[in-house]
Amino acid sequence: MEIVIGADHAGYEYKNKLKQYLDSKGYKVTDVGASSSDPSDYPDFAQKVVQELALADDKRGILVCGSGIGMAIVANRSRGVRAARCVRMQDVQSARRHNNINCLCLGERENTFEEAREMVDLFLKTEFDEGRHRKRVDKIDQPGIQVIKHPLVQTKLTQLRDKNTTKKEFRELIGELTGLMFYEATRSCPTDTQVVETPLTEAHGREMLQRILLVPILRAGLGMVDPILKLVPTAKVGHIGLYRDEDSLEPVEYYLKVPENLDNCIVLLLDPMLATGGSAAKAISLLKQKGFTDDLRFLCLVAAPEGVETVKEAHPDVSIYAASVDEKLNEDGYILPGLGDAGDRLFGTV
Ligand code: PRP
Ligand code: URA
Repeated sequence: MEIVIGADHAGYEYKNKLKQYLDSKGYKVTDVGASSSDPSDYPDFAQKVVQELALADDKRGILVCGSGIGMAIVANRSRGVRAARCVRMQDVQSARRHNNINCLCLGERENTFEEAREMVDLFLKTEFDEGRHRKRVDKIDQPGIQVIKHPLVQTKLTQLRDKNTTKKEFRELIGELTGLMFYEATRSCPTDTQVVETPLTEAHGREMLQRILLVPILRAGLGMVDPILKLVPTAKVGHIGLYRDEDSLEPVEYYLKVPENLDNCIVLLLDPMLATGGSAAKAISLLKQKGFTDDLRFLCLVAAPEGVETVKEAHPDVSIYAASVDEKLNEDGYILPGLGDAGDRLFGTV
């Protein structure tokens, strides 16, 4: 098991001593800082540790600050991280057995070093109980829906809805909205260091680690591809052809082409509209059948509550990003207030 450890100035001493202790026990330990007891900011180190945790399931994180509280708050903002601030052995015991924590947060002001060391030992040796706790822990990481409320997104969405918006404007707005939504949907993507030469010196920057696969649902999803390719030209593109049967509203599949053997990538399914959810749920099932099961994200612009429920129920592991969850569907399966038929408005088929 690999351990990633970090601390701010207030946890600096324990962090160093714990690293020494873990090294002596033969663990592979990565120390992300701080590198001195000068004043520093705990989020910087918590974020470095959780970035490392996102890269492998078998890594464990240890964070130390004055109280352990700030570290836990920051660490728990990252999907897949379960961090607990522990001050007693019982805390560690139940946090491992019941909550399967992968990050232990300690307070240098709260415990003696001996106590902290014993808690670390317990953290590393205690197994998760599984059983009834598995279902509960799995629910923590179910991503659900994120509605992007940024004022720019909301302004452009309002313009998109307007029936007087021209086809040219409609296409442009879909593009702009997609770029903004993509920015949010990739916020949590892991990055790695990348060193480049500036005209003056060396710069240590970051680059996204995983490849991106875009999969538009034809037709309307096509309008969302180019804006993302402009930002990430190396992304690959698959296509899923589905249309809704007018009477049953069930999705009918007519095309499927996705790259083969593309592992460890983020898959972004694209469709501006999530109405009954039939098309999105079907498209996700098709992607899963093709082996894309690791990191699936669905990017839409306007969703109906009914569609959100359908997708969440069928695919609780998939994150949904939307600019709005509207009121409801009408009797024809159109979203209210919605924006009408997205495919028709994009391609001028009305
Ligand atoms: C629209 C939209 C979605 C689907 C959403 O496509 O672009 O793919 O409806 O509805 P659902 O959530 O009820 O399945 P449509 O079926 O009209 O096909 P088109 O893009 O070819 O016009
Ligand atoms: N498809 C659309 O394009 N719009 C809706 O409101 C519902 C499905």
